[in-house]
Amino acid sequence: NDNRRVIAVADPAALAAAAAERVLARMAANNGRVAICLTGGSSPKQLYQLLASDTYRSRIPWQRVHWFIGDERFVPADDPLNNMGMARKTLLDGCAPAANIHPIPTATADPADPDRGAALYEQELRSFYGADTLDPARPLFDLVLMGAGPDGHTASLFPGDPALDETARWVVGVPKANVEPFVPRITLTLPTLASCREMLFELAGGAKRAILTRLFAGENLPANRARSAGETIWLVDRDALPEDFG
Ligand code: 6PG
Repeated sequence: NDNRRVIAVADPAALAAAAAERVLARMAANNGRVAICLTGGSSPKQLYQLLASDTYRSRIPWQRVHWFIGDERFVPADDPLNNMGMARKTLLDGCAPAANIHPIPTATADPADPDRGAALYEQELRSFYGADTLDPARPLFDLVLMGAGPDGHTASLFPGDPALDETARWVVGVPKANVEPFVPRITLTLPTLASCREMLFELAGGAKRAILTRLFAGENLPANRARSAGETIWLVDRDALPEDFG
């Protein structure tokens, strides 16, 4: 199962640049419809800003790239906590055709029911993919971006949560978050996230070092269970890298 590769970089700027090159390489490797699964939190912000800058923006084949999100906080689309809202603001708005942006719906009739939004998104993913079961020979995503939280969560898959063991559903509601912000979540499940050519984690800053030490020690935490059927890359900057890493 160890198809994970750790790439150490100097700092957050170098990390964003390395990630941007990988994103562009994935787009160039597929001359058809490209599917990118974005992530939220603070880690990918610098990458999104870089991709939106003049040098990178012109290298993205916008018409054929489709943008999804791996997890969402159950807040309105225009709430600052909304993951796709952040991606839109920093990268997508003004560049991506509206029909190519695929947010997780949070404006469902029952505000207490993230499962409804999850079911709708699962339907959207299935219809984009064109089948109800994932074929290992034909990944859903070209690239899945990920981050890891201080408790070892990734996407909105928290330690000990039953969502981690879900194998039938592609997307599930998570009533209770383990870390801030404490709002219900909607998350893609592990098999759905795994259906990609590349899964790319971004981990930067001293605040990540403690959890990275535990993850590299092999603890059974969500971020260690998230693996691509293809390549899994962890981009880690100097401040986040455990001292004894070698
Ligand atoms: C979210 C994210 C989440 C994130 C990690 C890391 O909705 O919060 O998708 O999985 O990637 O919590 O967050 P930071 O990048 O803010 O450290």
